[in-house]
Amino acid sequence: MSMTMAATHAAGRKLKDAIFDANKACNEAIKIHGTDAVTNATIGVVLNEDGKLATLNTVEKIFRSLEMSELVAYAPIAGLPDFLDAAIDWVFADCKPDAHIGAVATASGTGAIHHAIANYAERGDAVLTSDWRWGTYDIICNETGKRLETFKLFDRELNFNITDFAVNVDALLKNQKSLLVILNTPAHNPTGFALSLDEWDKVLDVLKAQASTGKKISLLVDVAYIDFAGEKNSTRAFMKKFGNLPANLFVMIAFSMSKSFTCYGQRTGALIGLSSDATVVDEFKEVGKYSCRATWSNVNRGAQALLVKLTRDAETFAAYEAERNALYQMVKRRADVFVDEAKACGLRMLPYTGGFFLAIPAENPAAVCDKLHDELIFAVPLKLGIRVAACSTAFDKMHGVAEKILRAMK
Ligand SMILES: Cc1ncc(COP(=O)(O)O)c(C=O)c1O
Repeated sequence: MSMTMAATHAAGRKLKDAIFDANKACNEAIKIHGTDAVTNATIGVVLNEDGKLATLNTVEKIFRSLEMSELVAYAPIAGLPDFLDAAIDWVFADCKPDAHIGAVATASGTGAIHHAIANYAERGDAVLTSDWRWGTYDIICNETGKRLETFKLFDRELNFNITDFAVNVDALLKNQKSLLVILNTPAHNPTGFALSLDEWDKVLDVLKAQASTGKKISLLVDVAYIDFAGEKNSTRAFMKKFGNLPANLFVMIAFSMSKSFTCYGQRTGALIGLSSDATVVDEFKEVGKYSCRATWSNVNRGAQALLVKLTRDAETFAAYEAERNALYQMVKRRADVFVDEAKACGLRMLPYTGGFFLAIPAENPAAVCDKLHDELIFAVPLKLGIRVAACSTAFDKMHGVAEKILRAMK
């Protein structure tokens, strides 16, 4: 047996990345057949129709205008106060609920999710999310000594499975004093699903009923793709429901600058906390700041300054919103092609309402993806199905993908 020096809890850990593997296979095919012949539906960033990374001119202009000292200096551990205010205003837009609100700057959305899991689930306890999910939730739970349990996101008719949600919340709270629930909506990765306002009411009813028994419930809403889900305030309307909740039902929102500002590698975001009880929010800011110090200390000052500058000037902000909306429309057009063609050819896909990805349930996703390689189409095999990236697949190349998936499945 090979020698291991890692501590027992870390030994054997290895990052398995289906996305990276799929992308590697795709790049090998590009070397042989050329870019034009290959459909790369594996990448999780927006690519323009020419296959190059999409960036926003307004963001670039402001970023390049920042003083060197603003780019490289340390930021306060909890974040620049103006950044935190800007992040809160930006996340809620016109849908700010009636609640005490606080924020901590984090290493993008991933950092925000990390802090929520680190501080709002007991060690050894389960955290609950949906079966279709972003795999990083599992990794953060493992790393921080929690475990991830899942409920079925969809019922047979592909509606949100409120029953399975309620059953799982109830079952976990039979053995736990508290529970952290993670919901990635709207524009869920990997399905593109979004909870409707009615479904939100049902989710909150389940959580409120549990809270009324004295259990401590925390809800983390991951809104990483919110700007690729539709109009600004309609996609945020559910946030109004977070006002006047009981003090033992705490809501957090993970804000990321990655997608909405095409700032992926600048690693900046925030964890926002809301409560009817000011002391819960004070505590949230303290424990969050502590976790910042223990992980990355403080995050990218330049990207924080960028958000402040971008949101302060009305004209620049309007230009940014128009540019970002054009990106959203580009992704939507591609997704619409897939959805229409899936319907036409009878491919059963999960309900897509927006976002970077579409998903097709499959018995053997790896075999289907391998078969698709014959057609020079590269998608990501997940546990429950296949993920197709509308964000990275050019409009023309999206034509025919649904039918080819159906054929590969057969
Ligand atoms: C569902 C989901 N949440 C959050 C993130 C966070 O990304 P980042 O850490 O770049 O903000 C991602 C990125 O892929 C994601 O897919």
